[in-house]
Amino acid sequence: MNQQAHIVAENKEGVFTLTFNRVDKKNAITAEMYQLLADGMMQANQDESVKIIKIVGSENAFCAGNDLVDFLENPPNESDSPVWQFLAALCDSEKPIIAGVNGPAVGIGTTLLLHCDLVVASSTAIFAMPFVSLGLCPEAASSLLLPQQVGLKKASEWLLLGSRFDAQQANEAGLINYAVDTPEDVDAMLDKWCQQLCKLPAESISVTRKFLRSQDLSAVKNRMQEEGDEFKRLLKSDAAQSAFQAFLKRS
Ligand code: COA
Repeated sequence: MNQQAHIVAENKEGVFTLTFNRVDKKNAITAEMYQLLADGMMQANQDESVKIIKIVGSENAFCAGNDLVDFLENPPNESDSPVWQFLAALCDSEKPIIAGVNGPAVGIGTTLLLHCDLVVASSTAIFAMPFVSLGLCPEAASSLLLPQQVGLKKASEWLLLGSRFDAQQANEAGLINYAVDTPEDVDAMLDKWCQQLCKLPAESISVTRKFLRSQDLSAVKNRMQEEGDEFKRLLKSDAAQSAFQAFLKRS
């Protein structure tokens, strides 16, 4: 385990944990971090000892989305840029993915949850997908998966207006499984799920997941590709460039 890395990967007792560990930047993700996440997902899927993939942040933040400085300096223009590799790995995972959210979960910090099997969030969680106000468009197939999971009206509110919402609202809409009080409650729920899932037959879990997702898999991949093409184009737009500059210059 590398404690200094901005993504910490740990494989213990059947649970492969990926932890966002860039606390001073609210776990905003750089290209280097996306690569570590993509590699971690791949490693977890190839390792037979792994039964569950767990994604967590720190107590003060789950993930503030893509690092906006990185968007300016290192835009993900290539189809194999680390961010797209990570999204593909999320989509292709054959192992169940669980996540626990405390603090802000912005942009991909929220959309990655659409690919998770089980999600719990505490009362400190704040979700937002401000793609439009940043001059961008949805990613991670969120324009397809969000309406499926929470309904078209709620998805439109959250994706068009970029409105912030809390764990209670996320739970009522069906984006997450449970809203709990504290970060300790999040950990307790994650531990419980890990214990339960580790005792269940891995092959039955895998087959069940395959059927739960089979209707969507090719549509999800197509949508990810289509969104990715627009996202790359919009990244260069004046609206996006000035939104990033405005964030960087805020006092
Ligand atoms: N990219 C780059 N830096 C980021 C960041 C991001 N997405 N999100 C937060 N940070 C940095 C801040 O610039 C600040 O750095 P500094 O201490 O060097 O000034 C630090 O992280 C703490 O952020 P701050 O805004 O002070 O924390 P907060 O608790 O008041 O607000 C957020 C947290 C996440 C709500 C807010 O930082 C935010 O809105 N971030 C941008 C989210 C975003 O638009 N993501 C992209 C989606 S596509």
